[in-house]
Amino acid sequence: MDIFELIRTRRSIRKFTGEAVPDDTINTIIEAGMWAPSGLNNQPWRFAVVRDDRLKKELSSLTHYARIVSEAHALIAVFLDNEASYDRTKDAQAVGACIQNMLLYIHAIDLGAVWLGEILKKKDKVRELVEGPEDYELMAVIALGHPAEKKGNGSRKKLDETLFFRL
Ligand SMILES: Cc1cc2nc3c(=O)[nH]c(=O)nc-3n(C[C@H](O)[C@H](O)[C@H](O)COP(=O)(O)O)c2cc1C
Repeated sequence: MDIFELIRTRRSIRKFTGEAVPDDTINTIIEAGMWAPSGLNNQPWRFAVVRDDRLKKELSSLTHYARIVSEAHALIAVFLDNEASYDRTKDAQAVGACIQNMLLYIHAIDLGAVWLGEILKKKDKVRELVEGPEDYELMAVIALGHPAEKKGNGSRKKLDETLFFRL
C-alpha cells in the first residue's frame, strides 16, 4: 500500500477480538511513535502499557468509553513529560505526531486502534493508576487490538472547505 493509501484507509477501531498482541509488537508500535519529529528533538512523550484486566477495568470506570477500554487487548497511555517540555504548544504537537505514527503503524500491520481523548477529564487518576510521576500529563489513551469491525470509508470535508489561501 502506498503511503497516501495507508493514511486514507486508517479508521478508528472500537471493537476488538480477544486475540493477543505480542509484547514485541507493542514495543514496535511505541518505537514507531518515538520516530515522530519533536521540537529540538526533545522527545517529550512517555508511555504506559496496560494489558492487565483488573487495571483495564479500573481505567474503564474513568471514561464514557468504558467498553472500548475494557475490551481492547492493550492500552497505551501517552503522556507529555512537562519536565522535558520547552514549549507547551510545540510539545503537544510532537505528542500528537507520535500518536498518529502509532495509529498508522497499527493500521499497516492490520491491527486496529482508537485515539481516546475523553478520558483526559480524569487524567490525574489515570496517571496515578499507571504510577506516573506528577510531571507526566496524560495526552491520550490508545486502545488497540485485533479488529472485530470493518474499517469503513470514513468522511472528510472537501479540500476547498479547508484550503483557504493559495497564491
Ligand atoms: C484528540 C482526539 C480525541 C479523540 N477522542 C475520542 C474518544 O474519546 N472516543 C472515541 O471513540 N474516539 C475518539 N477520537 C477518534 C475520533 O472520533 C475519530 O478519529 C474521528 O471521528 C474520525 O474517524 P476516523 O479516525 O475513523 O477517521 C478522538 C480523536 C482525536 C484526534
